[in-house]
Order: sequence, then structure tokens, then C-alpha cells
Amino acid sequence: MKIAVVGLGYVGLPLSLQFARSCITVTGIDVDPNKVELISTGQSYIRHIDSQAIAEFVDAEKFSATTDFSRIKDVEAVIICVPTPLTKNREPDISFVLNTGRSIAPHLAEGTLVVLESTTYPGTTDEDLRAVLEEGSGMKAGVDFHLAFSPEREDPANDQSKVKLIPKVIGGYTPTCLERAIALYSRAIDTVVPVSSCRVAEATKLLENIFRSVNIALVNELKSIYAAMGIDIWEVIEAAKTKPFGFMPFYPGPGLGGHCIPIDPFYLAWKAREFGKPTRFIELAGEINTAMPDYVIQRVTQALNSQRKTLNGSKILVVGLAYKPNVDDERESPSYVLMNLLTERGAEVEYYDPYIPVIKPTREHSHLAGKRSVQWDHATIKSFDAVLVATDHKCVNYQELADWTQCIIDTRNSMAFVKVAPGKVWKA
Ligand SMILES: NC(=O)c1ccc[n+]([C@@H]2O[C@H](COP(=O)([O-])OP(=O)(O)OC[C@H]3O[C@@H](n4cnc5c(N)ncnc54)[C@H](O)[C@@H]3O)[C@@H](O)[C@H]2O)c1
Repeated sequence: MKIAVVGLGYVGLPLSLQFARSCITVTGIDVDPNKVELISTGQSYIRHIDSQAIAEFVDAEKFSATTDFSRIKDVEAVIICVPTPLTKNREPDISFVLNTGRSIAPHLAEGTLVVLESTTYPGTTDEDLRAVLEEGSGMKAGVDFHLAFSPEREDPANDQSKVKLIPKVIGGYTPTCLERAIALYSRAIDTVVPVSSCRVAEATKLLENIFRSVNIALVNELKSIYAAMGIDIWEVIEAAKTKPFGFMPFYPGPGLGGHCIPIDPFYLAWKAREFGKPTRFIELAGEINTAMPDYVIQRVTQALNSQRKTLNGSKILVVGLAYKPNVDDERESPSYVLMNLLTERGAEVEYYDPYIPVIKPTREHSHLAGKRSVQWDHATIKSFDAVLVATDHKCVNYQELADWTQCIIDTRNSMAFVKVAPGKVWKA
């Protein structure tokens, strides 16, 4: 069997490897020629994905990469894993999905299955994507070609999260479309979960991510309420976790990050407006989570005040630029927001992240492009007035941090297990 995976990012690359591992020949298609070049020479560009695995399948001719969409004509199925960000006005931007549809359509052979995996609002697959595929191919979905939606559930850098082992929800445009998609994924994934439509599958993914966003907002709010009462939210969560039923721990932080949780809920909020339905939980969670960086800056100010220092003119080190521990992904990272807020208030800001030695150009934080991570040594770390831990990478030596610096603002409870003098750590 031959398939194509379009979009070779954090989702598409591991998925391609899993299909290749399952004896399916995969053509990876991406608009980024650098990624295509790296894959073709057996190199990974994602830290937690091994170059060795890519090289092995490229050598065995089970996996190849190209920018050429005409290769679609030779495959039985096309899986789309392209970005679904928000526009500047925080509305869904499905242009990547639609452009991909337009590029695929002219090359679609009769009987091909097209599956969308990108997170999006209900109706994208059977309405928006279907329209561009039908228009560009002159064929009918459900009749001449098959169409399905199956959301990705990738959890980068989680060792337990193997593509093969994560159950895959699948919705088809017609019962036959569903059957085709089940047959495809069953070859590579242990458990498939069929649902009645593409829209149910799209809505399932949104429920999963909104659930996280709302629960993170809850603990973020409780963090500041309990802090005012002199109670440590982290200790409370550890105790609550011992309840064997009806409780699931979520952890506070400096704000939401990544390509999913800060973005996906607003796909539903936008679509719900079409139906005249308010999305109060989504909006409230968004409001609380977005306010977290301001809360953290207040704590930095208090911590410096306690040392008779002002934020204006202080040297602050932000530890952890990635949006979550142990990854090199800094998309939507709250660390950027913290760095901007600190700079606006007159602080001199540097960062340390062993996984991100230099900041790549981004649309939102173009002024930070080219900035380099500081070195990890006593003299450098000691030179800062305060250190703000924004992400708790496992490889950072927190004991050295405790020994080398006078003032630590900790948003991740990273100092919980190190020996540190009283008064040095400010939880935020
Ligand atoms: N990263 C995650 O952990 C995760 C988890 C679950 C779901 N998702 C969802 O999966 C989708 C993809 O996310 P990602 O993290 O892999 O994004 P990514 O940015 O890492 O990768 C997307 C890839 O698509 C390519 N691309 C963009 N436009 C294209 C086009 N027109 N044709 C071909 N290739 C194109 C880009 O060059 C890039 O390589 C998003 O909808 C995201 O919300 C991501």
C-alpha cells in the first residue's frame, strides 16, 4: 500500500514513520523544501524524533519526501496534517487546509481516501475541504473519492505516547468512507474508535482540548486565591491526587502555550457564534489563562522589592523558552509574553533553554529573532538579579540554580525537591 502524508511537522512526521514501520510506503509532502531536504538525507528536525528512524526508512525506500503534489496520483490515501492557527484577530485560519486541498485536488485518482487530521471546527471536512476537493478534481466525495476526519493526539516528548498505542477516533463522510479510513489506520494503530460523522470526530478533539484549557484555568485561578491565603496550590494538588476516583490533576503555570490548547477552543467559539450560542467556559478559561503572565510579573516585582530592587533596571533570566518541558517547541510560548512584559517594564532580559540555542524568526515576536540562550555557568547565572523559571526542563540543574542565584520566581514548582535557603524562592 502507498499513502501520502501532507505536512511533515510535529504530527505528520511521527505519523509517517509509524505507517512506514507498518510496511506501508509513505510519500511525505511539504511546502518547506528544507524539511524535504533533511528527510531525504535521513535527518530529523524535531528533537524527540530520532534521525536513525528516518534514515532507516528512507534507505529502505519506505519513506520519501517531496514538495511535488503530483505524487498524489500514485497513492491510495492522503493524510493532511497542516497547521490550523488563529488569525491576528483570533479567528480560525483554515487557509493551510484549503490550500492543501487545492494542491491535492488536481492529482486525486478515483477511489483515493483523503483524511484530515488537523484540529478544527465541526464542518471543516465535510463542508470546506470537501468543496475545494470536489471543485479541483471534478469528482464527488463519497462517490468518486472518500473523505474522513481523524484527529491527531500526539503528545510530544511523552515517552508513553507512541502513535501506535494512542486510540484513533475516526469519522467518515459516508459509511464507506469510514470503512476505508478504519482499514487504513488499523494497519498502523492498535485501536481505532469509529464515530458517526466527520463532525463528531472534529468535535471530539475540541472537547479534549477545551477540557484541558478549562481545567488549567481552574488551577491557575485557585493558585492565586490560595496564595493570598498562604496555601501552596502544588501541595493541595498532590494531596487531592490521592483520591482514587473523580479527580484528575492539572497543574498551574505562567500561561498557555503550544499549537493546541491556546488556539483550538477558539475554533469552537467562532463556529458557535454561527448558531447563536455563547461559549462562556471557553471565554472565561481564555481570560484567566491569558492573565497569568501579568500575575507572574507581579510576583517578580514583589520578589525584587523584597530585595530593595526595582523591576526597571534589573537583570532577569527566563529559564525555559519552550512551552512545555523537554521539547524544543516554542510556538505560542508564554515565555515570550513574559520576556516582552519584563522588557516593557525596563528590565534587561535574557533566557536560558538548552533546547533552543537561538530564537528563530516568528511573526509575533520578530524583535527577539536571533537572540541566544545564555551559557549555564556560575558567573553568568549569578549576574542576574532574579531568575524566572517559566518551563521546567528535566535537564536543568535546579540545585545549581538554587546555589548560584539570590532570587528565583518559580512558576512550575521546579524548586520543590532542591535544597534552597528560606525566602529565596517565590512561587508564581
Ligand atoms: N503538535 C502537536 O502536538 C499537535 C497535537 C495534536 C494535533 N495537532 C494539530 O495537528 C496539525 C498540525 O500541527 P503540527 O504541530 O504538526 O504543525 P507543524 O507546524 O509542526 O507542521 C505543519 C507542516 O505543514 C507544512 N505545511 C504548511 N502548509 C502546507 C501546505 N499547504 N502543503 C503542505 N505542507 C504544508 C509546514 O511546512 C509544516 O512542516 C494542527 O492542526 C495542530 O493543531 C498538533
